[in-house]
Amino acid sequence: MCGIVGYIGDQNTSEILVNGLKRLEYRGYDSAGLALINGKLDIIKGKGKVASLEKKLKKQSIEGWLGIAHTRWATHGEPNDINSHPHLSQSGKIAVVHNGIIENYNSLKKQLASKGRTFQSETDTEVLTQLIEEIHENGNAPDFEGALQLALKQVVGTYGIAVINLDEPGRIYVARKGSPLLLGIGENEMFIASDASPIVEHTKKVVYLEDGEMAVVTKNDYQVKTIDDVDLTKEIHELALSLDAIEKAGYPHFMLKEIFEQPRSVADCLRGRIRTDSHTIQLGGLVDVMDRLVEARRIVIAACGTSWHSGLVGEYMFEELAKLPVEVEYASEFRYRDPLIGEDDVLLVISQSGETADTLAALREAKKKGALVLGICNVVGSTIARETDAGVYTHAGPEIGVASTKAFTAQVVVLAMIAIALGQRRGVLEDEYAGRLIDELNRLPDKIDKILEQSEVIKKMAKLFTYAPNFLYLGRSYNFPVALEGALKLKEISYIHAEGYPAAEMKHGPIALIDEMMPVVVIAATDHTNDKMISNIEEVKARKGRIVSVTNDENHEVKELSEFFISIPSTEDCFSPLLTVIPLQLLSYYIAVNRGCNVDQPRNLAKSVTVE
Ligand code: AGP
Ligand code: GLU
Repeated sequence: MCGIVGYIGDQNTSEILVNGLKRLEYRGYDSAGLALINGKLDIIKGKGKVASLEKKLKKQSIEGWLGIAHTRWATHGEPNDINSHPHLSQSGKIAVVHNGIIENYNSLKKQLASKGRTFQSETDTEVLTQLIEEIHENGNAPDFEGALQLALKQVVGTYGIAVINLDEPGRIYVARKGSPLLLGIGENEMFIASDASPIVEHTKKVVYLEDGEMAVVTKNDYQVKTIDDVDLTKEIHELALSLDAIEKAGYPHFMLKEIFEQPRSVADCLRGRIRTDSHTIQLGGLVDVMDRLVEARRIVIAACGTSWHSGLVGEYMFEELAKLPVEVEYASEFRYRDPLIGEDDVLLVISQSGETADTLAALREAKKKGALVLGICNVVGSTIARETDAGVYTHAGPEIGVASTKAFTAQVVVLAMIAIALGQRRGVLEDEYAGRLIDELNRLPDKIDKILEQSEVIKKMAKLFTYAPNFLYLGRSYNFPVALEGALKLKEISYIHAEGYPAAEMKHGPIALIDEMMPVVVIAATDHTNDKMISNIEEVKARKGRIVSVTNDENHEVKELSEFFISIPSTEDCFSPLLTVIPLQLLSYYIAVNRGCNVDQPRNLAKSVTVE
């Protein structure tokens, strides 16, 4: 789930590993550790941040010619020093770092215990470590590599692992099933990592492992094979990621940088895809599947979290602009309920990371059932991007803050482009309206800029609400998903309880919560629901709720009813989420900063959720 880095070469190994872990911090984690081989096997690990691992390393300097390191996001056993990775086998010769979950760890643990193995930690990872050693020591495999393969065949669950063995001091073994891993190929040195960010400053040449694959990595070479021992020749990819994109560029937090990047990321997402002269949209990634998409019976969108919210906006867009029925599903629910999906359907998965386990499983389920499977991903080369039949990248650039911001707006832009293109191809979107929409897409980056210029006002407003215990977010139509997203952003990074509701639903329950302590954020920027929204605002005010609104420049009525308002430029209704979400991102950010929260790495959260 969290981060893995490994290095073998002539540079300072512990420094490379620690710097690599720092690059992975954005994923969210609770403990960090590393293991090095230098004639012996040394481990330093513990609960807490990479900075405290670095301090320990300063006191107790250890060096090695090869090593593996990990940031843990606990699944089995609380975050503490003992449960931190790497885990050692009983002999102390084998060290393992692991992302993912070994589901049958309990039965394996009992079997291993009956053979006399004792365990230090509560983790599933230690069980795997001991299993490898048990198979190796009992001669059940020809060599260590064979023992590793046998062990991996016995485990049920997901893993990205890196393994070192003191008896083979020039090798790192890695394997993948359900949790990403890639190799970085340097000059006389090799890197391994769970994503490209620790590798990019050293080399751009990478090899992605697929599920069921493993690699034996030495200083000058690597051999990729299946865990059934069939040798593979893998393509070497060139990383497009730049180092600048993963640094803060003077901002105090990645999240703020990413919020402010949105005029650019939206423009990047549109670049080369819209033709304003002919009022057409070209999505290269969908060309081969467009006919099937045009004829689809319905589109099912599956995603999690913020990506699910963008999927909801997509539903409104596809139904309005392309007149295609859409269902939006939580990926986790979709995959577990034997969904009715077949060859006439399209499953569209949306994922920033392209690695979310539930979304990936939904994709595989739909593929098995014959549906056309499309993806909207941000991370180029991610598993979801590779496994879908076709798709569109959001090109938002690396999103490091755990709370998704620029990925959301880019996803919505891609959904808008697909909806317009589909509407045109299906002959259900009037030319004049299509033209207006396409021209407006081009204006969105400047409009987002205008909203960002109000950041100081939002900052001041955030001060007044920093200690509110609860928030309610209300939206209608296209802005109902924005209400959900605003509430999610706030709870994720400030730990304030917040709920998003369709405004009309308020009177069916949440209205009971409203009193003078309750800020109610009203997103009132879609024209055709304005009158109804005004009535909802009155209902809140009648119960002394405090109205903060996000509304169009010219919506004087809503402004007058609000204690505070943030004005956004007018746009087409269907694009309004791209503007209304910006002040909500900033509001959450400033409130969280005021509360002293770790904005980029909120507690308990991980950037990419590769466990189910
Ligand atoms: C967003 O702020 C969250 N951290 C989370 O809900 C996220 O959107 C979700 O886990 C899905 O991730 P993905 O887009 O990478 O699949
Ligand atoms: N399941 C393992 C543990 O709890 C690995 C968690 C992770 O992916 O970081 O230790």
